[in-house]
Amino acid sequence: MTEMTAVTEAKAVKAQTLPDAQTVTYVKHWTDRLFSFRVTRPRSLRFRSGEFVMIGLLGDNGKPILRAYSIASPAWDDELEFYSIKVPGGPLTSRLQHIKPGDQVILRPKPTGTLVHDALLPGKRIWFFATGTGFAPFASLLREPETYEKYDEVIITHTCREVADLAYGKSIVESLKDDPLIGEMVDDKVKYYPTTTREESPKMGRITDLLRDGTVFRDLGIDGIHPETDRAMVCGSLAFNMELKEILEGYGLREGANSEPGEYVVEKAFVG
Ligand SMILES: Cc1cc2nc3c(=O)[nH]c(=O)nc-3n(C[C@H](O)[C@H](O)[C@H](O)COP(=O)(O)OP(=O)(O)OC[C@H]3O[C@@H](n4cnc5c(N)ncnc54)[C@H](O)[C@@H]3O)c2cc1C
Ligand SMILES: NC(=O)c1ccc[n+]([C@@H]2O[C@H](COP(=O)([O-])OP(=O)(O)OC[C@H]3O[C@@H](n4cnc5c(N)ncnc54)[C@H](OP(=O)(O)O)[C@@H]3O)[C@@H](O)[C@H]2O)c1
Repeated sequence: MTEMTAVTEAKAVKAQTLPDAQTVTYVKHWTDRLFSFRVTRPRSLRFRSGEFVMIGLLGDNGKPILRAYSIASPAWDDELEFYSIKVPGGPLTSRLQHIKPGDQVILRPKPTGTLVHDALLPGKRIWFFATGTGFAPFASLLREPETYEKYDEVIITHTCREVADLAYGKSIVESLKDDPLIGEMVDDKVKYYPTTTREESPKMGRITDLLRDGTVFRDLGIDGIHPETDRAMVCGSLAFNMELKEILEGYGLREGANSEPGEYVVEKAFVG
């Protein structure tokens, strides 16, 4: 046996022993700090579009390093997609960023979360508010037929520091009309509102400021957010979520949960 074969076989044995292992099928690096990847889906895994699961890799000590990740693919997809940051020195992402097709990741099959249609009362228009990797649950919900069955209008806002940080979200939105399952349902329902804060782009500024000064409504030709018609889902940093909660409450919307649906729901895109 050559040295190379021995190493490959040792790796294979290690991979087989991973708990809840799934195989990576695709990886795309969008910037030097953002990437997306797809893995096989356990046959038994049922989830609602917008939910998150724990995924991870084995650390050097043989113990799993697990982190919460929104499933970016819709509930009907054969595979699972994720959209990830690369945190310099981050216990998980400093390793995860090197995965390649054929590698294995750990996936704990216990989906949960509040960014689900069940947590919202019926409405006419839904707003998805995201910053950074907070776009991930909306990549799932934008590809979910229920979104278009339930709402006449779907508005997705995405605020990032730089233009390149918007690329994954832009590609998801652009792919919707050609999607064989939801393409016809999407029609002209989706309005995409990307903004940047630290690099010149057609729309500059934090979405929170653009809501407060009415720019968003003028740009989209909408007369505001109202509890009778509008529903919202929010996913970003803690500070972003807190600000948007205050803004939405100011419009008269009440927070919902799985146990008690309301007019908006919030989930953290990361802790810290
Ligand atoms: C409900 C939930 C869903 C999540 N979904 C995703 C997801 O879909 N994609 C994703 O990339 N991450 C997501 N995260 C964050 C994820 O769990 C990890 O924190 C991230 O993968 C970094 O892991 P790490 O071990 O490398 O660093 P950690 O030790 O976990 O994080 C180190 C620091 O990096 C910063 N950080 C971590 N994650 C992010 C992020 N996504 N964006 C900006 N700053 C961050 C924080 O300041 C954090 O304190 C989610 C977190 C929660 C709570
Ligand atoms: N993106 C990069 O190019 C970059 C480069 C190196 C390191 N990092 C590090 O990576 C981590 C995550 O960066 P990130 O850019 O993904 O996430 P982030 O810092 O949460 O910023 C994402 C977007 O959300 C906006 N934002 C932040 N707080 C907000 C609030 N309260 N209300 C409204 N909008 C708000 C930011 O605007 P503002 O720009 O106005 O804050 C930015 O446009 C940070 O620790 C950062 O230091 C990022």
